[in-house]
Amino acid sequence: MFMNFRRIHKCQCVQLLTTGLVLCVVMVCWEELDHHMVSHMRSYTYRYLVNSYDFLNSSFAISTNYHHGNGGSNNVDGGLVNYPYLINHPGKCGGGGEDGESWDDVLLLLFVKSSPENFDRRQAIRDTWGNVSFVLSELRASVRLVFALGVHPDVGQKSRVQSQLLQEDRAYGDLIQLNFLDTFHNLTTKLILQFHWGHKYCPQARFLMSADDDIFVHMPNLVKYLRQLLSRQTGAKDLWVGHVHRGAPPIRRKESKYHVPYDLYPWPSYPDYTAGAGYVVSRDVAAKIYHATLLLNSSMYIDDVFMGICAKAMGVSPQEHVYFSGEGKAPYHPCIYDHMITSHGHATDVRSLWRAATDPTVSSSSKGFMGNLYCTAVKVMLLCFPYYQSTYPCMAAFI
Ligand SMILES: *[C@@H]1O[C@H](CO)[C@@H](O)[C@H](O)[C@H]1NC(C)=O
Ligand SMILES: *[C@@H]1O[C@H](CO)[C@@H](O)[C@H](O)[C@H]1NC(C)=O
Ligand SMILES: *[C@@H]1O[C@H](CO)[C@@H](O)[C@H](O)[C@H]1NC(C)=O
Ligand SMILES: *[C@@H]1O[C@H](CO)[C@@H](O)[C@H](O)[C@H]1NC(C)=O
Repeated sequence: MFMNFRRIHKCQCVQLLTTGLVLCVVMVCWEELDHHMVSHMRSYTYRYLVNSYDFLNSSFAISTNYHHGNGGSNNVDGGLVNYPYLINHPGKCGGGGEDGESWDDVLLLLFVKSSPENFDRRQAIRDTWGNVSFVLSELRASVRLVFALGVHPDVGQKSRVQSQLLQEDRAYGDLIQLNFLDTFHNLTTKLILQFHWGHKYCPQARFLMSADDDIFVHMPNLVKYLRQLLSRQTGAKDLWVGHVHRGAPPIRRKESKYHVPYDLYPWPSYPDYTAGAGYVVSRDVAAKIYHATLLLNSSMYIDDVFMGICAKAMGVSPQEHVYFSGEGKAPYHPCIYDHMITSHGHATDVRSLWRAATDPTVSSSSKGFMGNLYCTAVKVMLLCFPYYQSTYPCMAAFI
């Protein structure tokens, strides 16, 4: 009786396993199944069971017999050959690239992806987390802030916006503008601009950060984190850190902004990448990505994904940091401010958040045993229950 029971049990297990395996295989292979749920399961299965993205190297390699100059964004030099700088600051990091002139010692080159018409967002950033004189005087860290832009896509508004940009740049000297249309489908060109500019004009910066113009960066926490990385024995090498997407499926729905057709990317899942809202790479990784952009076809217009493709081709993997946000806004609370690095979706409240988050009383709220206990409890409340909108994973409550 007992033996029989065990036998049945074993049989069922084997059956279950086989069914699971068959299902997995079906999901990976059956391209026609394109329900949201199914495409996620298929892509996770691919990511976690197959996890081989070897096709990326060869599929995205630039064909050698290709002649550029046809105005597309898919040419050699990662799409930048045809686009001259309209506004540039070659001396931003010292040196100017000439022999004999020394480069400034720069901890962080901060690239903010902006659009020509977003004057207010840029101003809010300069006045708050992007205030490099504040970072220098209060944190003793050398940071360079630049905004990456194309030109306004609307012909009617282009010349007015352009003259405003020139005026803005005369006042602040922090715009880097290339002559391409600033549209969603040209975001990869903007990504390439950042790595090419960094390579040419600021190669000595220890870290490069790429950020959207509607995020909040807690500069004091970020600088502290970067310094900790530098003081490690291994140094800050091979680092690409942010909010990591693993096994994300390409979106095939035509209505979606992120729609990617099969002929551009036929595989069921993207290589791992960090959310483009804000991530940091170390100097060596920035150099590798630069080289990848010279070798790979940049027709993948989702810039975060293109970054993932470049990194994969160079053998770089992204690392998760629980206080880098992906989409959502961080909860407004001093216990969160004490740890947060980035938070997304702050087009209008950057100034008030900056004041609140850098208030000297913030760090005292979590001081001592009781403070620590209190903040852990608050963070569990804010991050671990699904009825609160959460940016950071529940795990972040225990750090
Ligand atoms: C890049 O890929 C696109 C689409 O897959 C293709 O049309 C284009 O010719 C490729 N460009 C190069 C330089 O290989
Ligand atoms: C930037 O920081 C400096 C130094 O802390 C401060 O004097 C200055 O007022 C700040 N600028 C803005 C626009 O807030
Ligand atoms: C990207 O910019 C180029 C150069 O201005 C332009 O020709 C092209 O149409 C733009 N592409 C998209 C998808 O907007
Ligand atoms: C090809 O891709 C692998 C990772 O999949 C990477 O380790 C390797 O360096 C790449 N080779 C080239 C030539 O890019």
